[in-house]
Amino acid sequence: MEMQEKFKMKINKLYLKNIRSYKEAEIEMPSSSVLLCGDIGSGKTTILLAIEFALFGLQKGILSGASLLRHGSSTGIARLDFEVGGKHVVIERTLKRTAKGIVQDKGSITIQGKHESLSAEELKQRVLELLAYPAEFLKKTNMLYRYTVYTPQEEMRAILQESPEERIDTLRKIFGVDKYKRIKENSAILSRVLRESIKNKQSLVTDIEEKKATLAQKESSKADIAKKISIATTKLASVKTSLESCKIELKKSEEQAEKLRVLSSEIERKRAELSATKEHKEELQQNRLELVEIIEKAKKTIKTIKPDLLKKEFEQKLEQKKFELENLRKALLIIDKKLGGLEQELEEKKELIKKISTFEKCPLCRQAVTKVHRKELLAEIKTELKEKSNMLEQERSKRDRTEKAIELAKKALEKLQVEQLEAEKMELQLQNIKEKESELKRIDAMILRYIEKEDDIAKELEKLVLHYKDNEKITEKIKKLKEEFELLMQEERKLAVAKAQLDGEAKLLEETICTLRKELATKEAIKKDIMQLSELREWLDNAFLATIEAIEKTVLSKLHHDFSELFRKWFGMLVTDMDSRIDENFTPIIESQGYELDYSYLSGGERTAAALAYRLALNHVINSLMTKLKTNDLLILDEPTDGFSSAQIEKLRDVLSELAVKQLILVSHETEVEDFVEHVIHFRKEQGTTKIS
Ligand SMILES: Nc1ncnc2c1ncn2[C@@H]1O[C@H](COP(=O)(O)OP(=O)(O)OP(=O)(O)O)[C@@H](O)[C@H]1O
Ligand SMILES: [Mg+2]
Repeated sequence: MEMQEKFKMKINKLYLKNIRSYKEAEIEMPSSSVLLCGDIGSGKTTILLAIEFALFGLQKGILSGASLLRHGSSTGIARLDFEVGGKHVVIERTLKRTAKGIVQDKGSITIQGKHESLSAEELKQRVLELLAYPAEFLKKTNMLYRYTVYTPQEEMRAILQESPEERIDTLRKIFGVDKYKRIKENSAILSRVLRESIKNKQSLVTDIEEKKATLAQKESSKADIAKKISIATTKLASVKTSLESCKIELKKSEEQAEKLRVLSSEIERKRAELSATKEHKEELQQNRLELVEIIEKAKKTIKTIKPDLLKKEFEQKLEQKKFELENLRKALLIIDKKLGGLEQELEEKKELIKKISTFEKCPLCRQAVTKVHRKELLAEIKTELKEKSNMLEQERSKRDRTEKAIELAKKALEKLQVEQLEAEKMELQLQNIKEKESELKRIDAMILRYIEKEDDIAKELEKLVLHYKDNEKITEKIKKLKEEFELLMQEERKLAVAKAQLDGEAKLLEETICTLRKELATKEAIKKDIMQLSELREWLDNAFLATIEAIEKTVLSKLHHDFSELFRKWFGMLVTDMDSRIDENFTPIIESQGYELDYSYLSGGERTAAALAYRLALNHVINSLMTKLKTNDLLILDEPTDGFSSAQIEKLRDVLSELAVKQLILVSHETEVEDFVEHVIHFRKEQGTTKIS
């Protein structure tokens, strides 16, 4: 913590491995002033180069790998242990020999014990941050360190021997005022670019007024078309409405027509029904007439008959006659039997007579028959015979009478049967008439129904026909409506086409207007740009450049003044008999007895003194200009006394004490210098390798 207060930055120690004359070494750096002392080539400068390498890495043109890596070694290490801004930092960088040459390998940084492996570039960035160096040095050669902390032995003389132009350029860089020159150059470039750009832009806006006029014209056309479209839209809408109502009307009428069509077929149907009914009726009437006639005829034929009585009478009479006939037949049979018996008796009597006449003995009594007896007998038999013959005769006439009676009865029965048949026929006919009469009644009823029906149909038909009367009108109306519809459709189509055309025109116009507006907006913007750019250019060419020049002049003159004063002071301390100053080109002007001496005419010691004074003045001016730099407290001087007389070396002590740097690293082989410092490190080289004591 104490460190933080005393030092912005302090180098603690340096570890080297395979760097130039070092195989491996570690050097502790005291916190105050130290002298690195040793013979030529003993390894002093190597320490300073290694510190620079550890901090910033290899730098193109001023610090190469080849100048650092020890011959014969494939890798080298430089590790710097230091304090900065109160932090303990250790940086380690490595070198590596490759086929392409010696390059930086990965390094590391440890800040307050926090270790990080980083690339060479990342390391440099970290260091610049830690040292509060401008970030622009990341890509550039780190001249700031070179002229404020450590200037290699030959570097300072080189700057003094450069042409004034180059020197002032270098100084501008170191002072950080080269930016003014760059600003001026860049603003000149910018001014040119601006002029070019303005010219280009101007060519883009020459037609702006013309475009405006076109736009106005297009806009008025657009308004016209919009009006036309509005009219067309209204018309179209009204046509559409008419079309719609026409459609509705047409539909209604067609529906009506359809109803009438249905009515017409209904009428047809009714008419057919009516004529069918009439036909039926007439047919029935005809039938009726026929039937009446038939009935009349039938009635005439059976007028006398009392049908009910007739039937019983006939039955009784028939029964009677049949019975009578039966009785007669039975009587006849009895008569026939009697006849048969009488005939047989007669035969037998005749036979008996014959026999008696011839017989000697009575057949009956078996006695001899006498003539009287015979005669008696014969007479008796003959009387019997006569009796019997009378009886037969009587019977025979009785039979004849019976037969005749039978014949009569038969005939009467036959007659009766015929009459009965006739009566039955009559009855049937009567039945028939009755049926016909009921049929007639039925027909009459039907005729009546048909007449009613006919009447009904006729009434209905009359109604239907009355309704149908409108038909003609509707057909006419539909025709008219259809014509009207067609006309409206045509009108609509025409209007739609016209509107579509107008819409197309409007769209085209709109697009054109849109494009024009965009173009105009762009052109207006360009115009604005031109104004701004012109203002900028005006400002750049006049105010800005003048200001920059003024700033530069002020800064430079301040720097120049301080620088000159310091240079005069340091040089005056080292070389007492000469006067000195710095001219406007930062060239040291040395005067001796009123004569200006060129630097190259100075003695070696004077030249060293001038270089040292220049170097110290530079250090001081920069540090006072950039107070934030952490390296302000560190000064490294390599052989500042080359060519000095012992008196001059003695003066160096005053210069150094006046500088009052907190950590001073001096390199010198002048033993007197040992007294100026608090610590001395001795270097010697044995067989190409540095040893430290
Ligand atoms: N790549 C290298 N490998 C080995 N040795 C080298 C390499 N480069 C230089 N040397 C030697 O290392 C030695 C130390 O050099 P250095 O510049 O440190 O000497 P010095 O002590 O500063 O000498 P002087 O007082 O002359 O300036 C010199 O002998 C030099 O020739
Ligand atoms: Mg050296």
